[in-house]
Amino acid sequence: MRGRSILLLTTIAAAAASLPVVYAESQPALAQQVTYTVVDGNKVDKHTFDGWHTWRALDCERCHGAQQQGLVGPSLVDALKIIDKDEFKRTIFGGRLAKGMPDFSSSARMQAHWEDLYTYLKGRSDGKIPAGDLSAMDSP
Ligand code: HEC
Repeated sequence: MRGRSILLLTTIAAAAASLPVVYAESQPALAQQVTYTVVDGNKVDKHTFDGWHTWRALDCERCHGAQQQGLVGPSLVDALKIIDKDEFKRTIFGGRLAKGMPDFSSSARMQAHWEDLYTYLKGRSDGKIPAGDLSAMDSP
């Protein structure tokens, strides 16, 4: 049994080592890996761009701050280091009404782009995506 768990650890380490360094950031569990691309400072892939756009369009910064640093609501830079994607989804779709976090489940934009939004916020939390305006990589 002991020998087996050592072998398993070795396998995980090998898998982690083979991840592309520039493009992938992983959560503690490899299954939670989130992928985004940042070039030239503030140009991001289309999904991340859509996530940022969703952040702006739904005005999350009204409560969480323009740099996700926290205001009325908590810092999402910190929160995304702790909560996983499922918890994020549950919070967005349902809210925490008693505590002041709205329910965004009726938003078509949120339904279409919640994973993109998660990716954007994860990149912010990882410190790899800059605060402020972004542009899409393929725009001129
Ligand atoms: C009207 C203010 C308000 C707006 C707008 C708002 N939030 Fe919140 N949000 C809060 C508050 C307050 C909490 C803390 C709830 C609690 O104490 O559990 C929170 C909690 C959260 C959490 C959970 C953090 C944690 O540590 O568990 C996430 C994730 C989150 N908000 C994301 C968003 C996103 C994304 C948007 C925009 C789509 C948004 N919020 C818009 C007020 C707001």
